[in-house]
Amino acid sequence: MRIDVINGPNLNLLGTRQPEIYGTTTLADIEASLTDLARGLSTPTQVIDVTYFQSNHEGGLIDRIAAGAAADVDAFILNPGGYTHTSVAIRDALIAADRPVIEVHLSNVYAREQFRHRSLIADIVAGRIVGLGAQGYLLALRALVGTFGT
Ligand code: DQA
Repeated sequence: MRIDVINGPNLNLLGTRQPEIYGTTTLADIEASLTDLARGLSTPTQVIDVTYFQSNHEGGLIDRIAAGAAADVDAFILNPGGYTHTSVAIRDALIAADRPVIEVHLSNVYAREQFRHRSLIADIVAGRIVGLGAQGYLLALRALVGTFGT
């Protein structure tokens, strides 16, 4: 099972970006934890292969989603960052990809500004994890393997 973990704009700054909101864990730390967990969840009959991508550009994220769908990606974990609230194009790319997606947000977007309360992908994803910090990515991986694994 191959799962692509995609992070949008400014998430490359995790660790130093508004640590009171996003914590001090870096994106590299999160990715390393996911790789460890994937190893732990793998079995002789099902290897969990996790790949990673981050971009500050909407088109880069869209290209990655399309490339995953054209290849052998089974599911996505996606934190679109600020594009969550604005990007019709990312929504369209996910619909075209037709793969299960778990939407992750480190912060509780509902405890923040009104414009963060709206997600343009909330109704087309398999599930959403909001406000649990870096743990959210690990929970998303467990959920995908538990729900869509063999
Ligand atoms: C975020 C929440 C978004 O509103 C914000 O623009 C981000 C990060 C989160 O993980 O909490 O960049 O997606």
